[in-house]
Amino acid sequence: MEAVSTEPAGIESAKAKAMKVGIDDGYAHTKLALPGGRLLVTPSRAQIGRSKISWLNQTERRIFEYETDGTLYSVGDVDAASTRFEGFACSGMNRAIVQHALQQAGLEGIDVEAVSGLPISAFYRGSGDQRSSTIADKQQNLLQPVLPKGDAQPVEIVFHRVIPEALAAWYDYVIVEKDGEATLDQRRVSVPIAVVDIGGRTTDTVVVRDQGILHDSSGSFEFGLLDVKQALAEALQARFDLEHVADRLLVRAVKQQTVRLYGSDYDVSSEVATAKQELVERLYTETRRQLGSGIELDRVLFVGGGTVALAHHITDWFPNQLIAEQPAFANARGMLKYLQFVCEKPDAS
Ligand SMILES: Nc1ncnc2c1ncn2[C@@H]1O[C@H](COP(=O)(O)OP(=O)(O)OP(=O)(O)O)[C@@H](O)[C@H]1O
Ligand SMILES: [Mg+2]
Repeated sequence: MEAVSTEPAGIESAKAKAMKVGIDDGYAHTKLALPGGRLLVTPSRAQIGRSKISWLNQTERRIFEYETDGTLYSVGDVDAASTRFEGFACSGMNRAIVQHALQQAGLEGIDVEAVSGLPISAFYRGSGDQRSSTIADKQQNLLQPVLPKGDAQPVEIVFHRVIPEALAAWYDYVIVEKDGEATLDQRRVSVPIAVVDIGGRTTDTVVVRDQGILHDSSGSFEFGLLDVKQALAEALQARFDLEHVADRLLVRAVKQQTVRLYGSDYDVSSEVATAKQELVERLYTETRRQLGSGIELDRVLFVGGGTVALAHHITDWFPNQLIAEQPAFANARGMLKYLQFVCEKPDAS
């Protein structure tokens, strides 16, 4: 797990009372925002069953096992089963990955109050009504216990609320923290703002005006950066005559533009560029279709890990566009702010 900020999270004091955590449990990565500005990310990678690897040195261990509802999951550096299945958000695999992320954040044995998210179209119907049973399923899912195998104490989620993912980034943008004080930025709240969240499986857009969501301009498209990996896998299978391309190899290919096969490195920059370009064109077309030219919007705010990966391609889509600070964490930060400053008090629930 990569720590973006290493400020102390106040873990000792959290042992006395529950710690508040924003959990953006995406299809590609699970991002955590903790009080004190700590941000952590872990890949959403798991498989059912044991990993069948014995670690010679436990400090080098990169796969961890968790049991929930009678099923064992291996989480971490596994050649993972895809998280891209309908119902992942409410699955045991999702619970195991979230427990792993919380453990990696050093929260072993601590009670946690959490806010997580659902894509906007999973949260709302087109009419604007909430999909209450999906939201309730997701809320219940993370409340179910997950036991780490071995000596580690579980992290227990004692309170959980669910909000639309891209809306979380809007909360992050309008609630500004300075010197430990949170204020609502009145200017940001009073103008129409679009958020575009480019994720792994989903790209979400949400338009907020007068503190209301404009459903005609908001929604989710079922594509994101995992489509780049899929397209790349097909291109590599064809070029190198491979039956199966491991996820690990694809991650390296996207990052470093090379693959290592039979001990030799091959340049795959052209395959990576083609796969990215296909996605960029689809994203541009869909966001322009949804938001028009953005003329009535004060800001088009880009967030999500996909914004980091495609930053060079999103330079002039809208004249009023802005890439959020550390865009991959905007949702998780907004979820934490929602929990700290907006949500009704957990003790009142
Ligand atoms: N720091 C980074 N640098 C480069 N690429 C990144 C970075 N962080 C994430 N990405 C890429 O962005 C993609 C999407 O990441 P993100 O964390 O937003 O997805 P997600 O939230 O898990 O997916 P979804 O929102 O669909 O559930 C990842 O698959 C990865 O390829
Ligand atoms: Mg996401």
